[in-house]
Amino acid sequence: MAQLWGGRFTKETEQEVYDFNASITFDKRLFECDVRGSRAHVRMLAKQGIITEKDCEDILRGLDGIEADVASGKLEITTRYEDVHSFVEANLIDRIGDAGKKMHTGRSRNDQVALDMRLFVRDHVESTTEQLSALLETLLGMMKENIDTIMPGFTHLQKAQPVTLAHHLGAYFEMFKRDRERLLSIRERMNYCPLGSGALAGTTYPLDREFVAGELSFTGPCANSMDGVSDRDYLLEYLSALSIIMMHLSRFSEEIIIWNSNEYRFIDLDDGYSTGSSIMPQKKNPDIAELVRGKTGRVYGALMSLLTTMKGLPLAYNKDMQEDKELSFDAMDTASACIRLFTGMLSTTTFNKERMADSCRGGFTNATDLADYLVGKGVPFRDAHGIVGRVVIECSERGIAIDDLKLDELKKYSELIDADVFEAIDLKNCVDRRNTDGAPGREAMERLLQKYYKDFTN
Ligand code: ARG
Repeated sequence: MAQLWGGRFTKETEQEVYDFNASITFDKRLFECDVRGSRAHVRMLAKQGIITEKDCEDILRGLDGIEADVASGKLEITTRYEDVHSFVEANLIDRIGDAGKKMHTGRSRNDQVALDMRLFVRDHVESTTEQLSALLETLLGMMKENIDTIMPGFTHLQKAQPVTLAHHLGAYFEMFKRDRERLLSIRERMNYCPLGSGALAGTTYPLDREFVAGELSFTGPCANSMDGVSDRDYLLEYLSALSIIMMHLSRFSEEIIIWNSNEYRFIDLDDGYSTGSSIMPQKKNPDIAELVRGKTGRVYGALMSLLTTMKGLPLAYNKDMQEDKELSFDAMDTASACIRLFTGMLSTTTFNKERMADSCRGGFTNATDLADYLVGKGVPFRDAHGIVGRVVIECSERGIAIDDLKLDELKKYSELIDADVFEAIDLKNCVDRRNTDGAPGREAMERLLQKYYKDFTN
């Protein structure tokens, strides 16, 4: 047992208590952030004359050595230490002796762990932002390729009106774009440095908190030391942003699963991104999409867990807060893997364009356009709706599309229907006439893509 706080105690901690209390098995992931924070701290201590330049150099060299040995595997972060902070400090003292004992001057583990976690999460927010950019880029490329790929748009999972694949993918583009913006704003809001908050009440040493914040690329120090050690809002915001990303990925996965089903056959998943069955030789399963959908719950779980942990905590630090790590790490790993794998799966998927257009044709998705055509000929919309309803009954009974009816068959429903009806209900035309902002028509879509390319490449 290597602990930092033996002095006040007359008896050894029970082994089970030690194990229950220890966090090294999971906070060892903060090692790199912990060393980064300590370097900034000791540089500041020396600059302020709180420790000597010589002690500072020795500590920095000691930290370099520890980092190199951990990287090479020569030094292992083991459960002999209570947490990662103890591991670093104990090893530093082993290496450089008394100077090592000065590293923790003017610092508490409370502000130290708050800093480590903030650095770790900030790095992660940045890498997730990049992953979302890659996903957005993939989507943008696919949209460009599919401005004319007609497919049915659905409501209630019933074929509704024709759209294009570009338009459908574009809806997800918007969702992930908002997700990315959310991350950027979280990054900005969280970027304040808790180090220097001490245990809760700052310190009596003349710390230069601005300097430390600058060294670690923060906007500035946290304004209130009690808040500094006990704020986990940024992590809750991040888990909430990750939950929303997962919700979007899960919805998209659900569509991939439906599109990949034997009944739809809209897409073919790449062999590299699907799996087989041990018994049924014909199977090619959308496991990645299903796992992304399935793992969404884990990320929600981490958010709910931390919200619940935090809700009853009086100021300032409480040990409950150690629970901010395990599930958050799991949620971060999970979300990252899901974004990466989903992007790979999506970019290797092929779309059966013929099949999508056929499905659109067979689903009366141009019924609204026929009604609109009648409106154009002077029929009130409600009457037109009724007329087209009767047309659909006949077509359903005969198992044909509206377009398959002859002109004289259509005329039975309204004398106002002329030969120009076929152009009006042609699926391609139906889509291309929808050119208001946000609609699937070619012109509207091209306008939007131009804007996306401009914003995105800047
Ligand atoms: N392992 C602790 C955590 O993750 C570090 C802070 C410990 N501070 C304390 N006062 N016991 O929260």
